[in-house]
Amino acid sequence: MIKVAPSILSADFSKLGSEVEDIRLGGADYVHFDVMDGCFVPNISIGIPVLKSLRKATDMFIDVHLMIREPVRYVEAFCRAGADLVNFHVEADTEEKIREAISTARSFGKKAGVTVKPNTPAEAVLPFLQQVDLILVMTVEPGFGGQHFMHDMLPKIETIRGYIDTLNPNCELEVDGGIDPETSTLVKKAGANVLVAGSAVFNRDNRAQAICEIRNA
Ligand code: DX5
Ligand code: ZN
Repeated sequence: MIKVAPSILSADFSKLGSEVEDIRLGGADYVHFDVMDGCFVPNISIGIPVLKSLRKATDMFIDVHLMIREPVRYVEAFCRAGADLVNFHVEADTEEKIREAISTARSFGKKAGVTVKPNTPAEAVLPFLQQVDLILVMTVEPGFGGQHFMHDMLPKIETIRGYIDTLNPNCELEVDGGIDPETSTLVKKAGANVLVAGSAVFNRDNRAQAICEIRNA
């Protein structure tokens, strides 16, 4: 089943509650929540207090994408603030510390995922694959919404789909960056089943139609 996860990075933060209600009514499956620390990526976005407020405003599944260095330091805080799934970049710390972050998320009853940047090879997910619920493949350099989809990520998505089918078939495969009704066709064909889309949803007046086009294109 294909899931659509609108990224609120492109939403109007002055009315975040109604923006999220709009995508819920529009048929979105997850809310994608991008956290940036100005260090792991060259931008700063939102964090724990915003997640806490959003948790009060919606019962939607919140997929937290941590673009921060040494995420193990904050995993407990994000779990307590209301994350349903926490994504950790494999580049953000040592393998041991990323494992610890995954275990901590699980100890709070949350789902956990690992994320790879465009220059990180597919094999980098293997040490974590049997421990996670989701693998997130970045299809742009993380840090900003509204960038162009990197077509050269398609073989990596296919490779990771192969790993998942063999080693952990229940694991989801998410893609993030430059997803619109056109590129969604390509990533679905390559094996992705959770599609993050920021500008392609929130820059449209009719979010329901945007979500439907991304899911069904
Ligand atoms: C980028 C973020 C994305 C971003 C996607 O670093 O992780 O989730 O919001 O935005 P679009 O869909 O506009 O590329
Ligand atoms: Zn993201």
